[in-house]
Amino acid sequence: MNITILGPGAVGSLYAYKLHLAGHSVSLWGRTPSRKIEITLDDGENIAFNNQSLEDLKRCDLLIVALKAWQVQSALLPLLTHLDNDTIILFLHNGMGTVDMLADELTERPVILGTSTHGALKVNTNTVHHTGNGQTLIGAWNEKGQQCQFVAEVFDHAFSPTHWHSNIQQALWTKLVINCAINPLTAILDCRNGQLTNEEYRAQLAGIVEEAVCCANFDGVELEASTMLDTVVNVAQSTAQNYSSMHQDIYNKRQSEIDFINGYVVNIAAKHKIDIPNNLSLYQRIKQIEASWSHHD
Ligand code: PAF
Repeated sequence: MNITILGPGAVGSLYAYKLHLAGHSVSLWGRTPSRKIEITLDDGENIAFNNQSLEDLKRCDLLIVALKAWQVQSALLPLLTHLDNDTIILFLHNGMGTVDMLADELTERPVILGTSTHGALKVNTNTVHHTGNGQTLIGAWNEKGQQCQFVAEVFDHAFSPTHWHSNIQQALWTKLVINCAINPLTAILDCRNGQLTNEEYRAQLAGIVEEAVCCANFDGVELEASTMLDTVVNVAQSTAQNYSSMHQDIYNKRQSEIDFINGYVVNIAAKHKIDIPNNLSLYQRIKQIEASWSHHD
C-alpha cells in the first residue's frame, strides 16, 4: 500500500519502519521541512523516508494520523484538500475527541480508529526504540470505515498482533480509562508507571477509574469498574519502568494530551450532570502546571 504517516513521533516512526519492512511504500509528514527523514529502529538499518511529499500524499491509500491529540485538528485540516476521497484515514493516538471535532470534514471518507499498547521511545530525532511489545486494535468510525477490515490484516502482517475490533469505542474507552488513571498521576508525582502499583495509591486509582467508567457507561459503552481497576494496575505493572507519555510531556514542558484524556471525561460528565471530583482535580492540576510555564518562562 501507499501509506503516509502524519506525525513521525515515537509511535508514528515505529509503524513507519515496520510497514516499510513489510514492503509498503511509506512516506512521512512531519513538521521539519527537510525532504527526507531517516529512522533507525533499535539496532536495525537506517531508512530514509520521504517527508512532506505532496505527490505521495495525493496518491496514498492510507493516511495514519499519529500526532499528539491536540495537534490533530490544525495539522490534518490543511492536508484533507489534497487527499483523495477514497484514502482511508486511521487515527492512532492517545485520548478521544479529535475525530468528533472534525466530524463534518470526515463523514464522507473511510475513517478507522486504532489503539495500540506498544511501547515506543524516541531517543533522538532519528532513533526509535520499541520498548514494549503490545497489540494494535483497529475498528470502523463510520460506514465507509466498515469496508476497511483488510487494513487490520495488512498491519498484522507488518506488525503482529493486530486485530479488527467490531466495537472499537469500547477498546478506545478502555485505553482512555487507563490513561486517565496513569498519565496525570505519574506526571504530577514525577514517577514511573510502576510506582502507582503501591497500595497507597489504590484508593485514588479506584476513584478515578469509577468516575471514568461511569462516563463510559453514559456514553453507551459497557465497562466495569473493578475489572478496569485490575487492568490499570496490570498496565502499570507491565510498564513499570516506563515514564508515561504525559509524564514525558510535562517533564519536558510540552503541552500534554490532558484535554483529550481526563478533559474528555470531564466534558462527558458535565453533559450528563455527574460529579467526577477525582478526574476534575487531576485535569485542573495539569492545566495549572501547563499555564505556569507561559507565566514564568
Ligand atoms: O500514555 C502512555 O504512556 C501509555 O498509554 C500508558 C499505557 C499509560 C503506558 O505508559
